[in-house]
Amino acid sequence: MILPIYTYGQAVLRKEAEDITLDYPNLKELLDNMIETMQKAEGVGLAAPQIGLPIRVVVIDLDVISEDLPEYKGFIHAFINGHILEESEETELMDEGCLSLPGIHESVRRAKSVHVAYLDENLQPHDEWVDGYLARVIQHEFDHLEGHMFIDHLGTLRKQMIKGKLRDLMSGKVRCSYRTKLIKK
Ligand code: NI
Repeated sequence: MILPIYTYGQAVLRKEAEDITLDYPNLKELLDNMIETMQKAEGVGLAAPQIGLPIRVVVIDLDVISEDLPEYKGFIHAFINGHILEESEETELMDEGCLSLPGIHESVRRAKSVHVAYLDENLQPHDEWVDGYLARVIQHEFDHLEGHMFIDHLGTLRKQMIKGKLRDLMSGKVRCSYRTKLIKK
């Protein structure tokens, strides 16, 4: 089932998300719905707060970019109760967008690699360093779990430049190809 994506201005996007218990009801169905919603919207990642749930559940699909980055062929995974434990000192700039911020794309500086702990879709625990494009997407998606969005990382000037677009999103002026849940006016 395709779920509406909450856009900028929704309070849940600014909430710190909580770990779930392993008997969370209908977890498999939730993951399936999140993956379907992400793919329909042509995103590479989706965090549960973006569908209105303040829980630490993220799905990532890098199979869609595997033509350019073949190491991610077939990479469609869930990250449950994920936490970033350490970040590399080395950083890099990369362009980012977000399904909750349609129409906004900005360059964001992030760590090149991160040490993460999470459970996968089979509830198997992982504790590992990841790098490359996956490290970038994990940092973006796990930010959502802290109530952060990529625009929080921008400098004062860039923040100023996107003010009008944010105001439009807040007032419900959203143009995108997928279903969204706008803030109530
Ligand atoms: Ni996002």
